[in-house]
Amino acid sequence: MKVPFLDLKAQYATIKDEIAAALQQVLDNTAFAGGPFVAAFEKDFASYCTTKHAVGVGNGTEALWMALIALGVGAGDEVITVPDTFIATAEAISFCGAKPVFVDVDEKTYNMDPAKLEAAITPKTKAVIPVHLFGQMCDMDPIMEIARKHKLFVIEDSSQSHGAEYKGKRAGSIGDVGCFSFYPGKNLGAYGEAGAIVTSNDALADKMKMLRDHGSSKKYYHTYLGFNCRMDGFQGAVLSVKLKYIDKWNETRRKNAGLYTQALTGAKGVTTPTEAAWAKHVFHVYAIRVANPGALISALGEKEIGTNIHYPLPVHLQDAYASLGLGKGSFPVAERCAAEFVSLPMFPELTAEQIAFVAGEIKASLKS
Ligand SMILES: Cc1ncc(COP(=O)(O)O)c(C=O)c1O
Repeated sequence: MKVPFLDLKAQYATIKDEIAAALQQVLDNTAFAGGPFVAAFEKDFASYCTTKHAVGVGNGTEALWMALIALGVGAGDEVITVPDTFIATAEAISFCGAKPVFVDVDEKTYNMDPAKLEAAITPKTKAVIPVHLFGQMCDMDPIMEIARKHKLFVIEDSSQSHGAEYKGKRAGSIGDVGCFSFYPGKNLGAYGEAGAIVTSNDALADKMKMLRDHGSSKKYYHTYLGFNCRMDGFQGAVLSVKLKYIDKWNETRRKNAGLYTQALTGAKGVTTPTEAAWAKHVFHVYAIRVANPGALISALGEKEIGTNIHYPLPVHLQDAYASLGLGKGSFPVAERCAAEFVSLPMFPELTAEQIAFVAGEIKASLKS
């Protein structure tokens, strides 16, 4: 049985007609860059995230970068995040001139360990970016408490956690701003590149709306030095259609994760993901940990089961960050996780039979 890692076609088939009608409307209105379809999505997405505003941008990396710039982060500042993330989180910090500073992650949730946060704060620290990895939110209460005590901004990197909750609060609604990627494979994915920033701060939202459009709120008059980070009209229209289904799709992901965990509980040498007591996990990624990921990945590959590793090398060990001088052993939990993670196929349309097959092949491979 072939089990792809991700099957975007299966989901597209369920909404094909609605998508075609939405794209046709954009064409009929020639509303390609920003415009009414982006504005309509922003309104609905802000309401979904329980924030006052959403600002649509070109992708998740731009969302983080613009949020940092809007908060005044720049050269000489430090921003704290985790090494166990996609490199974009750190790149956004570097590209506004600041320095990324890492704290290790928690062994169970793979998210920022709040107990290690305070030690990383220096007089140069301006902001913290907790990353809600794999679909589960960080332990936000202690993170917010420490950030407020030291007067630091909090930017939630919610790129993998659309609709996830922490003690009933939605991802992106707790910090000063929340940043989202709508890369096609995300829980809420565009049909191209897109991203958004959410906030309940009116002044910040106004500034970010200007920054994404060359620092302008009136055509050809520029208050700030900005950039072109506008969202495409087509993406706004696609996302408005898909937003109606996100809760249903997240529930199916949760159900699929439950089936995997049930089937793999007790399997020798497999650590399944943990859902923290505070969390509603939306399983963007279902990652197990095993001692020898390479052997498991090739055994599953032989059975036509797709897998992935998120991420094989923590950010502090990437060549791009060699200048930080952080060697092996700097963040042992993140490094151990990177050496053990295997991401299994996970998308809402995955069937119970496919999950049972994948789990069976994992058990068979680990026995041999
Ligand atoms: C945690 C995290 N942050 C940021 C990004 C960057 O988003 P984008 O690819 O839309 O620029 C991603 C996307 O993969 C991500 O997973």
